[in-house]
Amino acid sequence: MAIGGDDLDVLTIAEHVVAAPPAERVEVRARKVHLKTFGCQMNVYDSERMSEALAADGYTPTGDLDDADLVILNTCHIREKAAEKVYSELGRVRAVRLDRERQGKSTVVAVTGCVAQAEGAEIVRRAPVVDLVVGPQSYHRLPGLVARAEAGAPAVVEIEFPEEDKFDHLPVRRAAQGEAKRAPTAFLTVQEGCDKFCTFCVVPYTRGAELSRPVAAVVAEARRLVAQGVREITLLGQNVNSYHGELADGSAASLAGLIHQLATIEGLARIRYTTSHPRDMTDELIAAHADEPKLMPYLHLPFQAGADRILATMNRKHTAADYLSLVARIRRARPDIALSTDIIVGFPGETEVDFQATLDLVREVGFAQAYSFKYSPRPGTPASNLDEQVAEEVKAERLARLQTLLESHQSAFNQGLVGRVLPVLFDRPGRRAGQMLGRSPYLQVVHVDGGPELLGSIREVEIVSAGPNSLAGVIEPA
Ligand code: 5AD
Ligand code: SF4
Repeated sequence: MAIGGDDLDVLTIAEHVVAAPPAERVEVRARKVHLKTFGCQMNVYDSERMSEALAADGYTPTGDLDDADLVILNTCHIREKAAEKVYSELGRVRAVRLDRERQGKSTVVAVTGCVAQAEGAEIVRRAPVVDLVVGPQSYHRLPGLVARAEAGAPAVVEIEFPEEDKFDHLPVRRAAQGEAKRAPTAFLTVQEGCDKFCTFCVVPYTRGAELSRPVAAVVAEARRLVAQGVREITLLGQNVNSYHGELADGSAASLAGLIHQLATIEGLARIRYTTSHPRDMTDELIAAHADEPKLMPYLHLPFQAGADRILATMNRKHTAADYLSLVARIRRARPDIALSTDIIVGFPGETEVDFQATLDLVREVGFAQAYSFKYSPRPGTPASNLDEQVAEEVKAERLARLQTLLESHQSAFNQGLVGRVLPVLFDRPGRRAGQMLGRSPYLQVVHVDGGPELLGSIREVEIVSAGPNSLAGVIEPA
């Protein structure tokens, strides 16, 4: 139940934000918002949508906490460390708020995202500086809630899964104020939530049941992004390859179907998607990697652990052999595909022999990229109650060994690209003047000497050197 009551008329908020033409809109006071994002790409996407919604209420972004009338921490609950970061950040926010109060300025503080969803009112109890706690399904209500907090309303915790779809109540996507164009790459959330219930994971609890956005809504958002200068879209979902969005005739489209539709958008050059579950890698989706030139040869496919015993306790519903035969099928469709994965070490009961099976699987596949974590018990998940929790120092030691192996594979993959000519999409200036950064089809950052005129263009680049995390190249003459 929401604390502080919630008799808010959501449609009114949405109309205020979405429909009111600028001339009729009540005078908006210029204020600043400091929005800090923790965690995954889905949070990055949510943060963008929040800041777009708040822009309509006169909020412009600031990187400076002291300068912010509104502070939002968009949080992650996946591992304990991620969640604890929020509380240390709130300590800093409290000090700044007190300082601002002494200068006669007020500050509204909001916690959004997965810690908000998981901990709710506990956040306000632990950190009374917080005015608003808003879950990932309710952030379309943020502008209205902020307005009430500014007017002095008591703290509000808004973590129910509302009936209405937040995407229908958010303003359509616009480039940032004062900017004609967006960055060349964008995220687009097409699916949220998860029904898989891996026993270590909080996502099914914080993000709720699987839900796919209708195809027409996704295509409309993609078209807008492309019209604003976007050339590459990464489709996001906690379980994106289980996407089953409604089509106009009431039937459901698969992720492959969605990708083929998006590929018809002129000006959109590249499509990616993440994160996928091995069980939902259909033949149709694998075939799309062979048939759809706009679909990039990169796939993030977590396997989590190499021992079948551990995979079973994790409730992954696949074995190591299933994963390997899936990888073989994917590579038959797209031999050069760069594979990426997530791996957990020290899941309860993991022995040295089990861990060796993880190393074996890594050796067998050879990942171009990987994210590896020490198991972190999360409150409310089945694995947190298992006996045989692995000691912290054992986890740390296994993680170090695993990461050494992963880094060697990543370096080898990058090194294998030296001498090749790859199409690179330039998306930002480098740190040094006269340097531009882009992405290869395999998602590595590529450094070249070049000017800002490259931004948003795709150019053929000869790769001349490779480091563990990036490539350097020379643009081929046109
Ligand atoms: N402990 C450690 N890692 C976890 N992940 C999810 N839950 C946990 C946990 N409790 C990892 C998984 C997942 C990635 C997003 O985070 O590898 O794929
Ligand atoms: Fe979490 Fe992914 Fe498993 Fe879903 S499939 S429970 S999001 S690890």
